[in-house]
Amino acid sequence: MDNVRVAIYGVGAIGTNIAKFILRKRGIEIVAAVDISPEKVGKDLGEILGLEEKLGVVVSSDASEVLFKSKPDVTLHATGSFLDKVYPQIVEIVEAGSNVISTCETLAYPYYRYPELSEKLDKLAKERGVTVLGSGVNPGFIYDTLVATLTGVCETVEKIRAVRSLDAAKRRYPFQKKIGLGLSPEEFKHKLDAGEITAHVGYAESIMLVAKALGWKIDKVEEIQEPVIAEKDLETQYFKVKPGEVAGVRGFGIGYMNRKEVIRVELVAAVGAEDYEEIIIEGNPNLHWRNSLGIPGDIATVAMIVNMIPRVLKAQPGLLTMIELPPPSAVLGDFRDLVKKDV
Ligand SMILES: NC(=O)c1ccc[n+]([C@@H]2O[C@H](COP(=O)([O-])OP(=O)(O)OC[C@H]3O[C@@H](n4cnc5c(N)ncnc54)[C@H](OP(=O)(O)O)[C@@H]3O)[C@@H](O)[C@H]2O)c1
Repeated sequence: MDNVRVAIYGVGAIGTNIAKFILRKRGIEIVAAVDISPEKVGKDLGEILGLEEKLGVVVSSDASEVLFKSKPDVTLHATGSFLDKVYPQIVEIVEAGSNVISTCETLAYPYYRYPELSEKLDKLAKERGVTVLGSGVNPGFIYDTLVATLTGVCETVEKIRAVRSLDAAKRRYPFQKKIGLGLSPEEFKHKLDAGEITAHVGYAESIMLVAKALGWKIDKVEEIQEPVIAEKDLETQYFKVKPGEVAGVRGFGIGYMNRKEVIRVELVAAVGAEDYEEIIIEGNPNLHWRNSLGIPGDIATVAMIVNMIPRVLKAQPGLLTMIELPPPSAVLGDFRDLVKKDV
């Protein structure tokens, strides 16, 4: 059986790490790479990854051409957070007959913010016989797939709370920038409202995914993000933060059913914050899950996108969510063994 053929669409921080991870795996190969950055287009992917040898895959800005020619089984897409912006890119991939796994946060449950685009994309994917999935660490796992999976041992569920707390100082520059480090509280609000910084995208998508898994009908979702204000001088590798300036973000998503809060997802991403995740399920039985080590975001995103490949290659065509696929697991063997029809 041939190797699983993969295209990387978006050779940025995540795309680069996805490519490096795939090079360490068996039964899978990179056959194409797409990006618009003039510094990357025309270069061999090996050079962009900082490898000694070339990979024979030249980064192209013409996605249609390169995807039609290279015929990937799946394209791993990591360029942006909002489906309306990346929609033409996803369409190009689907039109070329490739399955898609994307880190686009709003694609994790696209029917919430973009119902019409979702219907169109689902129809197109079915026509072309391919699967489209939005995934990642969050949305994609911590607030949704993990939560829904934990409820598998519950007879009843009344209320869910999922918390993620992380030390922003340990994260890379774009993350520290997108949560507003060093801004005044006024600048933070202005930039967040103008879409110049995003902080976390996907509270509502995670809530809707969990609700869908449980069969709950959510009648309202609230999303709130506020700055965490520094009380003393703080410093990261990239930013100096004075007292009174923004040291991070605190955000919530709340899902209501019959006007009662039933799902709450909470984020603290601030300099010096504790690294942990916690999930509290009120039901029968009550559950309290905690990871005191904290899940490292980039490693987890890359792993999730790659580990979902066998699930997606064996799924029915259409626009799917993590809830419709079997729960993820690490792929440690040969990818070809996991995509055979009888596995
Ligand atoms: N779901 C999750 O858990 C999760 C986790 C991590 C990241 N994400 C999301 O995944 C996305 C990628 O993250 P990242 O950190 O890798 O971002 P990044 O470093 O900015 O990389 C994005 C890359 O895509 C390129 N690009 C932009 N528009 C393009 C287009 N139209 N065609 C081809 N390439 C294009 C960019 O080029 P330029 O540099 O020239 O713009 C850049 O090289 C972000 O939206 C991020 O929020 C989601």
